[in-house]
This record gives sequence, C-alpha cells and structure tokens, in this order.
Amino acid sequence: MDLAIETQDLTKRYGTLTAVNKLNLQVKRNTIHGFLGPNGAGKSTTIKILVGLLKPSEGTARVLGKEVHVDDADARLNIGYMPELPRFPKHLKGAELLDIYGRMYGMTQQERSEQIPKLIDIVGLKGRENDFIGKYSKGMQQRIGIAQALLNSPEVVILDEPSIGLDPVGMVEVRELVKEISKEGMTVFVSSHLLFEVEQVCTHVTIINKGVALVSDTLANVSGMLKGPAMLNVEVAELSDEVVQAIKSLPYVKETSVSGNMLNISLATGDDVRPQVSQQITQAGGVIISMNLKRQSLEDVFIQLISNQKEAKA
Ligand SMILES: Nc1ncnc2c1ncn2[C@@H]1O[C@H](COP(=O)(O)OP(=O)(O)OP(=O)(O)O)[C@@H](O)[C@H]1O
Ligand SMILES: [Mg+2]
Repeated sequence: MDLAIETQDLTKRYGTLTAVNKLNLQVKRNTIHGFLGPNGAGKSTTIKILVGLLKPSEGTARVLGKEVHVDDADARLNIGYMPELPRFPKHLKGAELLDIYGRMYGMTQQERSEQIPKLIDIVGLKGRENDFIGKYSKGMQQRIGIAQALLNSPEVVILDEPSIGLDPVGMVEVRELVKEISKEGMTVFVSSHLLFEVEQVCTHVTIINKGVALVSDTLANVSGMLKGPAMLNVEVAELSDEVVQAIKSLPYVKETSVSGNMLNISLATGDDVRPQVSQQITQAGGVIISMNLKRQSLEDVFIQLISNQKEAKA
C-alpha cells in the first residue's frame, strides 16, 4: 500500500501522562485525511512527532517511507507543516516572510520569485503581501501560515487546526483551500476538533481521544457507522388512529408513538422518506403542521465512541 504517513505503536509520554498511546496511523497518498479529536486528544503531539519536532517515547513514525528522526533530514523537505496558531514576526511583510522561509528551504531566487506570488494568490492575500504581518487579521495569519506550508511544493502537507480562530467565512475559505491543495496532488493531513469541518472536506478520518485512535477509515464508512435509524417527528392536526395505522403499514417504519398531536416515527432507513410519509398521512386524512427529521450525524458517532471509551475504562 502506498502510504504517505504511517505510525506503528507510536507513543509519547510527558512524565506520567501518556499523550499518544500506541497509535497506528495509516494515511494513504493523495487523500485528505482528517485527524479529529477533542482538546487534549493528542493531535498536536502526534503532528509534532511527524514533522520531527518531538521524539516519540516508543514506536515509529514514517513519512513518505522514511522514519522521522532516524533517516536524514532531507526527508523533511517533502513535508509542509503549519503549526497550531502560527505566529510570525510582526515586523515582517507577508511576502518577506515567505522569502525567508524559501531561502531556508534552499530555494533559488528564481524559484522564490515564481512560487511566492503564486501562493499569495492561492491563499487569497494578493494585494496584502506587502503589509506587515502585525497588521494581519487572525485569518490572514492562518493563510500566510498555509502559504508557508506549501512553499517548497511538498508531497505531504500537515496542517494543525488551520481554521481555529477563524470566522465562518474564513473557515469556508480554508476548507476550499484544503481541497485546492489536494487537487494539486498533495496528501493533506489536517487536524481539527470540529466535526462538520472534517465531514465537509476529508476523504478519510481518524478519530483520536486521550491518545488512542478510536476509528480510522474512509469518511463514508465512519459516518455510516451509526448513520442508521433516523427519527421523524410529525405534528399532525386530526391525528387519528387511521393516520397512525397508515404510517405503521409503511415498510421502513420501525415504531411509532403518539403524544398529543405529535406522531413520532422511528425509521429503519437512512433515506429521506419525508415525501412518502407526508403523502401517507394526507391520504389518511391527517393535516401536517410540521415535520422534523433527526438523523444521526458524525457528531453522534464521535460522542458515542468517546462515551464507549469512558465506559470501557470505568
Ligand atoms: N509539552 C507538554 N508537556 C506536558 N504535557 C503536554 C505537553 N504538550 C501537551 N501536553 C499534554 O498532552 C495531551 C495532548 O496534548 P495535545 O496538545 O497533543 O492535544 P491536542 O489534541 O492537540 O489538543 P487541542 O485540540 O487542545 O490542540 C494534553 O493532555 C496536554 O495537556
Ligand atoms: Mg492541538
């Protein structure tokens, strides 16, 4: 299998605290892999090991087939990294910062003068590249951080919570940017504590909590884990027995319960069957006032996995 990132029993302890516990991570090339977990889950610790900033206590981490820390530092030239909440010197201009990083990567003057304007454009900072970073908003600082991570055209881009501190518009822009990066053929490994963000951009997801990976699969498989029965709550005027029986006769209706004017329908399908249910109620003489479909989301999977883990430990 062609893996961009692979860890084996990766473990990191800070004193008595095990921040990362026997993590086996496999990130396929050319995927957008979300690394999802609540605060303190061990995301940044794992990422710092992957980029060579921290040493593992046990286990190994490989990026592009090379073992981090053991193989030569050149391997790191193929990795782009944006740290959590990057803060750059305020007295530098955006373009200047990228130029300094470019020189650190050993890029020639010509490479820098080609690549830097292109990246400034991609991250949406065109026209602001000659402003001091001290005058940048948080969103602009995140963007210059992403540009910095892409500077040397790396094969793997590792972004630690790129949309933290951004407003909703900024978050959408970062998501679009991540998709663009992926289209350029790079592998993106991106951490987040926000489910909807991962849900909207990633092809694969690993959920981590307390240093332990709880699940790692394609987004579709992880979302599908619990995306089973949905609930449909329908408020019906003229809610008669006939209406209830008509609903019960539908093949995908598992259970029904009635409280006042509310007809609560437990569905055995993940499909959106509201049109059929609505038609059935109307034909049986009911008048629908409102209808609310509650589906299990990735958030439910996440919460369930984390509470299962707590129960298992208790
Ligand atoms: N340098 C350190 N020394 C001691 N403990 C640390 C250190 N860095 C992190 N930790 C602890 O390790 C655990 C994992 O932290 P980490 O920063 O990797 O989590 P995270 O998933 O990135 O969280 P967040 O979403 O808040 O960024 C936490 O309990 C944290 O307090
Ligand atoms: Mg973190």
